[in-house]
Amino acid sequence: MNEKLILLSKGKLNKVSRQLFEGMIHNGQEKGWPFFVGDPEIWKFSDSLLQREGTVLDLGIGAGRASMFFALHGMQVRGIERVGNPYAQHLTKIAKAYRLAISVDFTDFNEADFGSNRYDVVMMGQLFVHFAEKQEAFAVLDRAIDATKRGGYLWLRTSGQEDDNFKSFKEAASFDPEVQISEEAYWDWCGCSGQPELEPHLYLKPTELLAQVLSKGMRVAHSEVMPKIGLKNIMYGEDDLAIHPMEPAQKSGMITVLAQKA
Ligand SMILES: C[S@@+](CC[C@H](N)C(=O)[O-])C[C@H]1O[C@@H](n2cnc3c(N)ncnc32)[C@H](O)[C@@H]1O
Repeated sequence: MNEKLILLSKGKLNKVSRQLFEGMIHNGQEKGWPFFVGDPEIWKFSDSLLQREGTVLDLGIGAGRASMFFALHGMQVRGIERVGNPYAQHLTKIAKAYRLAISVDFTDFNEADFGSNRYDVVMMGQLFVHFAEKQEAFAVLDRAIDATKRGGYLWLRTSGQEDDNFKSFKEAASFDPEVQISEEAYWDWCGCSGQPELEPHLYLKPTELLAQVLSKGMRVAHSEVMPKIGLKNIMYGEDDLAIHPMEPAQKSGMITVLAQKA
């Protein structure tokens, strides 16, 4: 059990919500999936991200570990997720049972209309991981910025080129050309669809990503681009250490950006 998260939820949530959170954490651990454990980075920025009756767009919502947090605080969430994704299907059931304002559009976000100046918060949690090309990722980023209201926030976390995995993929590609998809992306196994599948994994240069965000009229409120020692899993950060404490420390190049639209 993630004691830290339980402790946080005890202070912030009512009984039903707390039970839901605890259930999600427990389910996630039973399945061996850390998807349900929440994301401490988001708690950290709650002063900026939580807005009474605000609206949230969560691209690639997955099991909703970010959006649960918003919905439990009274915000209205629209998630976008691939057709048939079992984690998002589970999320819609929880949302219905607990009357949380989370709706999920099961569609490809490359084709979905995000609208313009529409959301108080736009979430992009480990989304670019499945892109094959930087340009594709930046095209979605630009549309996400467009969808953010003036004064609203964009939160994104993605894999950066300082990551140890990026370096080992690069090395592997030097003797096995089938490992590499593009200059920045590699084939790797992923369980996002509910079963292990080979998917592209994109690693971005932190400075390029920040430049892209800034070029679209955003003010960077927080960015974390430095590699961290000991965060084995670029996606789940601290939580992963709690779940796999025996894994050897690895350098993670995770990039986290919180930006506000001017
Ligand atoms: C690594 S998971 C992250 C899930 C969630 N944002 C989180 O932080 O827990 C990436 C999610 O994006 C979804 N996804 C990837 N490409 C997508 C696409 N083209 N359209 C909609 N969803 C997509 C995947 O199915 C997966 O659930």
